[in-house]
Amino acid sequence: MKKITATLFCLCSLSFAAEYDPIRGQMLSLSCASCHGTDGKSTTITTYLAGMGKTTLYKTLLEYKNGTKTGTMMQKHVKGFTDEELEQVSYYFSKVKR
Ligand code: HEC
Repeated sequence: MKKITATLFCLCSLSFAAEYDPIRGQMLSLSCASCHGTDGKSTTITTYLAGMGKTTLYKTLLEYKNGTKTGTMMQKHVKGFTDEELEQVSYYFSKVKR
């Protein structure tokens, strides 16, 4: 029985790769705008996020969240988001034209 539960859990988490929701993606992106510019088009020293690959962006955000990547701001900022929200915002920036 335990095995079956574990298998079901694995299947569920695999299918979890979130479906993109553009409205939520944009809402979440607003929290990045103060430092990375509107739509991620940075005009300062912060990274230009517009058009960055979704997978790269999402992976980087998860690294900040789990502490494998460190910095002055980002670790604190991403802590307020669920993994799914970080994935949505990654989709959003990846779809903005550079
Ligand atoms: C308070 C300012 C601030 C906010 C808000 C902010 N960032 Fe950042 N971001 C930074 C800084 C500063 C860095 C450089 C690393 C550091 O010092 O934390 C950075 C680095 C990054 C990097 C790594 C870039 C690289 O070249 O490695 C990514 C990706 C990123 N931010 C995405 C985001 C996303 C997505 C959001 C919104 C959910 C966001 N940031 C919100 C300031 C901010």
